[in-house]
Amino acid sequence: MTDAPDKQKPVELFFRAHVFCCTNQRPDDHSRGSCASKGSLKLRDYMKVRAKELGLSDVRINSSGCLDRCEDGPAMVIYPEGVWYSPKTREDIDEILQKHLLDGGRARTLLMAQPSGRDCSELNDDECENCGGC
Ligand code: FES
Repeated sequence: MTDAPDKQKPVELFFRAHVFCCTNQRPDDHSRGSCASKGSLKLRDYMKVRAKELGLSDVRINSSGCLDRCEDGPAMVIYPEGVWYSPKTREDIDEILQKHLLDGGRARTLLMAQPSGRDCSELNDDECENCGGC
């Protein structure tokens, strides 16, 4: 007998979606920069308020530490899909809330670049970098 989860049985999620917003702060002269220095705390705060106003009670908006995509930040990732975004403004947050969390699609213009910087349309299946954009 094992305590391992049954891989055939779907996992019931506590939240429909979980949004992690990097709010890591580094010194301004740090070589990688940081999401907090690019305004991520205000964007996270705005997203929390708007999600509540929109009735997204099954979506959790959380702060996170560094997500290791500092240069492309402010970094945000939404699970369970694992889709990465780089919102810069409140309007960007509104678009992510509407297109991803309400409509179930993608806010395509705000997707974070593939780690290599290549566009998804340039990659075949073997080269996919699992950015979550497709
Ligand atoms: S500081 Fe935000 S991803 Fe590293």
